Amino acid sequence: MAKYKLLKAQKEFLEVPHKSGLDVALYQGGYGSGKTWSGSLLGILLCLRYKGIKGLVGAQTFPLVRDTTLVTYLEHLEALGFKENRDYFFKKSESKLIFKNGSEILFRSLDEPGKIKSLNLGFVEIEEMSDTKESTFKMLLGRLRQAIKPEWKELGFQYRLFGHTNPEPDKGWLYKVFNSSKVNYRKLIASTTENTFLSDSFVESLKDAYDEDYYNINVLGQDGDYSSGLVVKGFSNCNKTSCEGIECKHCTKSNVKTVNYFPDMDLHITCDFNVDPMSWALAHKTEDKVFFFDEIVIENTTTEKTCEEFLRRYPKHTGKIIINGDASGDNRSTASEFTNYATIKNTLKDFGYIDNVEFKLKGFNPRIKSRVAAFNSKVLNLKGIRCVFVDHKCKWVIYNLENLKYKVGTSLIDAPSHHQIKQSKELKFLMHIYDAISYLVDFYWPIKIEQPEKE
Ligand SMILES: Nc1ncnc2c1ncn2[C@@H]1O[C@H](COP(=O)(O)OP(=O)(O)OP(=O)(O)O)[C@@H](O)[C@H]1O
Ligand SMILES: [Mg+2]
Repeated sequence: MAKYKLLKAQKEFLEVPHKSGLDVALYQGGYGSGKTWSGSLLGILLCLRYKGIKGLVGAQTFPLVRDTTLVTYLEHLEALGFKENRDYFFKKSESKLIFKNGSEILFRSLDEPGKIKSLNLGFVEIEEMSDTKESTFKMLLGRLRQAIKPEWKELGFQYRLFGHTNPEPDKGWLYKVFNSSKVNYRKLIASTTENTFLSDSFVESLKDAYDEDYYNINVLGQDGDYSSGLVVKGFSNCNKTSCEGIECKHCTKSNVKTVNYFPDMDLHITCDFNVDPMSWALAHKTEDKVFFFDEIVIENTTTEKTCEEFLRRYPKHTGKIIINGDASGDNRSTASEFTNYATIKNTLKDFGYIDNVEFKLKGFNPRIKSRVAAFNSKVLNLKGIRCVFVDHKCKWVIYNLENLKYKVGTSLIDAPSHHQIKQSKELKFLMHIYDAISYLVDFYWPIKIEQPEKE
């Protein structure tokens, strides 16, 4: 049987430091900080200690609870020497784990709270609590009403609701509820860096992969406000140093520098197909860096006309032409017989760019939050390294990087309304070129969160 050693935060999470009849505990931590592992262990320990207890383990979606939480429960049971059909039973059709002593755990999705309303429970576990609504949390608190058996009293029974989560990107309901001064509400903060069961090189690699704010929230597990102020963090436009172009050693402090175009290098076109303005950016790329040397931003136009403008500017390209951009650009628009990408392909082909054209697109667009985080970590990562560079002539790219903000109090990017654009025409150029450049960055360097274990 496995011998477990708990991390500091896990130990505190399992213990209850007060005598109230109900304990509400949140394990808030970075990626891979041992949240799911300790939640499942706690569920099993409660089942063993309080014979006949009923627990509910929920996550916002059923695949999350089935593929993550339930799997971890079964792994613990195996490691602890429990045998299926001898020490416990798993009823797959009901997603129910039954222990020999009569204790039971239901695994459920929380997206239809109505379906779990009538239960009487002894404990509740919530996986990734930041995805859960506050109303569901309150409803589940009200279900902690299983009759207390006399023998449980002697064992110091307390109802328990416990959950684990990555910090919310902004300070939402979890932050408010768990930062209150109620003695029976506890929040334990665990950093990924404290999980000694992860490899050191993995933990170190996160500093390359994330920007500072993202690191503080998603690795150190701290409360933060990723969605406040400017969308692009860490961008610097410092023109003071003389510049030697693409390999310039002097301007590592600036994301803006002279970026030259080379006809024989791979040329990336990354596209957002908004009609007004159509917004494309042109770049060269190395293994870990991207260099935007030009932008094509045209008001009230078509994909075909924008492509013609590209050909006018770059008629003699001998390297590859790689098309990146909005994954939904392959949907046919009503204005055109072809999809945007088919139009690009045809126009380039008619011009003579045939064998050197490639399309590199995701099957679907990632969540905008992931795209923003991927882009920010390339603008400036925690180690102070910049990997996104923009030439001075990319006026609208720079305008976006310096001005794009979140809507106050939300995690939505503040796209200008028609009314605002009427008052200030410049605003119309916000958002679309940012989308274009961040599609490229997210395609090549998405945020990574997988955690290899120590050998
Ligand atoms: N006390 C422990 N003893 C042994 N291994 C542990 C312990 N705590 C965590 N681990 C291991 O560390 C890894 C990460 O743990 P876990 O999956 O629980 O993290 P998490 O915070 O839920 O991650 P995610 O952010 O991906 O949801 C897993 O491989 C897990 O088995
Ligand atoms: Mg987890």
